[in-house]
Amino acid sequence: MSTLTLYINGKLHALKSVEVDPKMTLLQYLRKNGLTGTKLGCGEGGCGACTVMISKFDEKSQKIQHLSANACLAPLCSLDGYAITTIEGIGGMKHGLHPIQKRVASLHGSQCGFCTPGIVMAIYTKLRSSPNATPHEIEESMDGNLCRCTGYRPILDAARSLSNNKGGCCRGSGQECPCAAAEASSGEPVVNNNTTKVVSELKSAEEEMSEMGRTEPIFPPALMRYQRQSLEFTDKEVSWFQPVTMPELLTLKKTYPQARLVVGNTEVGIETKFKYFEYPVLVNPAHIPELQVLSFDETGEHAGLTVGAAVSVNALRDFMAELKNRYRNTERHYITRGYEAIHDMLTWFASNHIRNVAAIGGNIVTASPISDLNPMLMACGAQLKLTSADGGSRVVSIGSFFLAYRKVDVRPDEVLESVFIPIVQSPLEFVLPFKQARRREDDISIVTSGMRFVFERHATNSTAFVVREASISYGGMAPTTVFARRTMALLTNLEWDQEVFDKQVFPLLREEMNLPEQVPGGQAEYRMTL
Ligand code: FES
Ligand code: FES
Repeated sequence: MSTLTLYINGKLHALKSVEVDPKMTLLQYLRKNGLTGTKLGCGEGGCGACTVMISKFDEKSQKIQHLSANACLAPLCSLDGYAITTIEGIGGMKHGLHPIQKRVASLHGSQCGFCTPGIVMAIYTKLRSSPNATPHEIEESMDGNLCRCTGYRPILDAARSLSNNKGGCCRGSGQECPCAAAEASSGEPVVNNNTTKVVSELKSAEEEMSEMGRTEPIFPPALMRYQRQSLEFTDKEVSWFQPVTMPELLTLKKTYPQARLVVGNTEVGIETKFKYFEYPVLVNPAHIPELQVLSFDETGEHAGLTVGAAVSVNALRDFMAELKNRYRNTERHYITRGYEAIHDMLTWFASNHIRNVAAIGGNIVTASPISDLNPMLMACGAQLKLTSADGGSRVVSIGSFFLAYRKVDVRPDEVLESVFIPIVQSPLEFVLPFKQARRREDDISIVTSGMRFVFERHATNSTAFVVREASISYGGMAPTTVFARRTMALLTNLEWDQEVFDKQVFPLLREEMNLPEQVPGGQAEYRMTL
């Protein structure tokens, strides 16, 4: 008999297996239990009305992590050993509003109020996890929250005013900041406009809390000693398994070859809700140590980054930023260029709430033809490690992994264990990400691309360069992520020259990436132009 143990707003919920519906989302559970402050908007991770804070004790770092997430996608079963905080847990009319709630209301950041709990929880989670977040960082944490009626200016003013880091934008903390680029291109001040000057004089959330003599709810101490164990929840339609060791996971995959692996449920959740797919067996591999590896080797034949398949998009993004900083002022600053490019691409990957829970492995195996990540991995020459109970492990190049639309080179008894991304080997090697979508934040791409070029100096012309190797990968141009192989071959050993591009490279690329007018997804001419 399994028991699902979680805390909601400090209260223990220990659910026996007969009480657990393996198909239930956290949002359904909350609302069924009277916590109706968390709203159902889109139900697919797109609007943020259902944002809650999920807190967990991370064994590796021995730290408590607070993550914002979409309750409409989070499976209840996946939350064993976690603490959930909803809008009711931070303040209300009965026991007094939280300073964030008060500020959003008093600066006119709420009209119908439907989006407001989600917006407040996004800000709250940011300030719990980064108490010194800059106004700009708080704003970024809300990229998954939509408001249909207020308009964003008063919401953003309220959000920014809650920072205790009054250095203005990130430039105040000495970090790179997109505000500088935005100001330079528009000629308009982004941060120090009049409104922001006024709101920057308001007290921070932390100051208000201490003046009110209040403290934030604590993380349940019992969860810091929580012994994670294998779980199984079954009803008539679905069985949910949570293995905790690799052999256990592989045995499950051998026993149930049709089982679908689920970490953040950001793909399977959509498929089951909106496309009516049925998955009778779901397996949550989030707690398998091998699938949580995040390690970097800077030397040797296998120098590069190994990323476990269950690592979240944001965990990878943070690690890549750390690597960039580690090598920034060193002689080998170039070795992280591929990671910087992937980091930049992941900035525009869905929303913060999705990036906190969506797993790298899920994104690869799902094989969306308009994936943001896969073109980058292909351009960087990533390799995938696939493991099964009987066959051991094999390594596949990601360039040959995508076989057809949503079809990948994984046997039914195999799981994707990790992905290896090599370092950039030479100062003359460059990696670049490209994405075009209808809007900047939280949107599906129209076309994506990852490009990597290795150059060498021209033999006779000291100012010219020759392409030694080219990797150009596209999403949104075929039923799978594809290499522009003919163009890559043409570029190899070609001089890097505008005229050569205009006369030879672009015409071939257009021919190679040609889309018929009736192509699925439409916009053939636009996509080819991109
Ligand atoms: Fe829209 Fe969850 S209801 S993101
Ligand atoms: Fe109405 Fe935001 S206040 S949706």
